[in-house]
Amino acid sequence: MGRGSGFGKTILFGEHFVVHGVPGIVSAIDLATDAEVKRIGEGITIQDERKGAKGYTEKKRTQQKESIERMLTIMGIDLEKTSLEIWLGGRLPGFSGIGASAASSVAIARAIAEEFKTSLSDERINEIAYEAEKAYAGTPSGIDNTAATYGGLIWFVKNLSGGPNTIERLNIKKPVEIVIGNTGVVADTKEMVAGVAERMKENPEEYERLFDQAKDLSFKARKALEDFNLREVGRLMNKNHLLLQKIGVSSEELDYLVNLTRDQGAFGAKLTGGGGGGCMVALTPGKELQETVAATIERERFQVLRTKIGIQR
Ligand code: MEV
Repeated sequence: MGRGSGFGKTILFGEHFVVHGVPGIVSAIDLATDAEVKRIGEGITIQDERKGAKGYTEKKRTQQKESIERMLTIMGIDLEKTSLEIWLGGRLPGFSGIGASAASSVAIARAIAEEFKTSLSDERINEIAYEAEKAYAGTPSGIDNTAATYGGLIWFVKNLSGGPNTIERLNIKKPVEIVIGNTGVVADTKEMVAGVAERMKENPEEYERLFDQAKDLSFKARKALEDFNLREVGRLMNKNHLLLQKIGVSSEELDYLVNLTRDQGAFGAKLTGGGGGGCMVALTPGKELQETVAATIERERFQVLRTKIGIQR
């Protein structure tokens, strides 16, 4: 049997914009998906025991199947001649927006490699998971699989000419508490990414301006994180949420949770990931503030994760 795991993540700055070459900042979280793979059975079977949002596994099933086929193909494994039993579990729940698909792809790729007794570098695992991500996101930037593979806090820039992406590790003074709130709406990242591309075609000038603003925010955020100026990081997250609203990827539930957490004292809050549902993230330094904000969301009957950004691997 082969085993593997992949980290969940939260995008702090630049989701969607990152698909078009704007720098993004992503942090892995301390929750991972685990996979086990055995070369037995008939065909490819998946036993998905990840806990999560109702309907997540069902809604993603077709994309999951395609993603595994893509992985096996790029790994040079003959789909016709191979039988695999894949088990998925771990502490990362199946919510939209926290990199559940990328974490599972990294976990499965590592488990398959182990089962086939091949040793693959993280770089290769990342490439394989990127191929798998195409099934979930259409034209992914690669930011999710990068966080799922390497962990930590990462500055990521997609190379639009097809060359290697920029992946830089960022260091902050110490990990910082965050709260992730789940709207409970399972969103389709592929549709969200395609929607932005369509609207961009209709309003190229407006989008160019928004993209410039997003780029400026990411650079300022990098400095604020490195200076450990958390008030500034929070303010920039709020500005990033405004840009995400402008490109049409927020939702009523996301805006509700973002406002709720700001009212409770979060330093900043924004949607995280593909939007259109899924999750939001609030910056809540210190256990006490984290608990106040998390408990408020729970009282409103939304699911919550209490975790940290900037945990070094
Ligand atoms: C999804 O977590 C992040 C998006 O920017 C898509 C991607 O970068 O691949 C929406």
